[in-house]
Amino acid sequence: MRERLDQLHVTARDELAKATTDAAIEAWRVLYLGRRSELTKVLRSIRDLPATDRKDAGQTANSVRKSLQIAYDEKIARQNQALTRDDIDTTMPGYPMRLGSLHPLTQTLRSIRQIFAPLGFRAVTGPEVEWDRYNFELLNIPADHPARDMWDTFHVQDDKRPGEILLRTHTSPVQARIMEQVSPPVRMIVPGKVYRYEDRDASHEAELMQVEGLAIDEQITMADLRGTLAHFIRAMFGADRDHRLRASYFPFTEPSVEVDVSCHVCEGSGCSLCSNTGWIEILGAGMVHPTVLVNVGYDPQQYQGFAFGMGVERITMVKLGVTDIRDFYRNDLRFLRQFT
Ligand code: FA5
Repeated sequence: MRERLDQLHVTARDELAKATTDAAIEAWRVLYLGRRSELTKVLRSIRDLPATDRKDAGQTANSVRKSLQIAYDEKIARQNQALTRDDIDTTMPGYPMRLGSLHPLTQTLRSIRQIFAPLGFRAVTGPEVEWDRYNFELLNIPADHPARDMWDTFHVQDDKRPGEILLRTHTSPVQARIMEQVSPPVRMIVPGKVYRYEDRDASHEAELMQVEGLAIDEQITMADLRGTLAHFIRAMFGADRDHRLRASYFPFTEPSVEVDVSCHVCEGSGCSLCSNTGWIEILGAGMVHPTVLVNVGYDPQQYQGFAFGMGVERITMVKLGVTDIRDFYRNDLRFLRQFT
């Protein structure tokens, strides 16, 4: 037993002398002083020795243990001293830390909110999984209405309510939800995700973001809509970007328009991104249809209003000079870091 302990003592001290890193010293501690170490095993086996040998073996094992513990403590103390003395050069440059930043679409969403807040538009949200009633019916788009083809829809399978649940195709259902709940005047914007069963290309996504806008009050006219949109476009893109209103059709507005801004790639001369028109469509808008007002319990004789729905990706493309909408969702840091 004594020989075994002496041998262990010598080997352990040699090994400790060779350990230079923190990890190696810790491994040594586990091996020679840990609960499963050779020394612990020897200490445990002492009780099986004949009574006459027990005392001597116990004393030897304890003194080996003490000696190794002291050697270990000294080693740690020396290691710490070395660190606090010369081994740290506090004048060395640190490792560069990359700061995170907001996604360009989040930056645009924040700008949109900042532009509309001073005009009294409060931001609200609504569900992305929506009832057909809000996405279509209340917006003057009954079942089998041909205008449903304007939005290729993802339906949610529910055998009890077939065809009634869907992924909202636009943020307009939140118009109906809010008008059902509150009395006029209303001024709100609705940022959120929408989903369309669509082929993706440089200017079309199947999962995109919109910001809806709605203003209802007495004596609101198309001039208010035009003024509000012109103010938004100036604030978002600067005074130099051209825009135009084009007559259009939406079942929930009358009259309806679509708004284009001059293409940021070709500056109006025509290119593949703008389908050679020189314009990029950023939003649809119009005066809220009287049928929609009646559907939510408002009196169209007393109240009128305007609504708009803008594409956040398209606006960001024009604002930041992005030429492919799909880049926003590729998670490529080389792309995203351009906009920190
Ligand atoms: C609508 O979604 C209407 N709800 C907008 C509206 C609201 C009209 C209120 C009247 C009153 P539209 O499908 O045109 O309309 O989409 C509105 C905007 O979303 C477009 O101008 C465009 O900027 C953006 N958008 C639409 N589809 C896509 C797509 N697949 N990829 C990227 N952006 C899109």
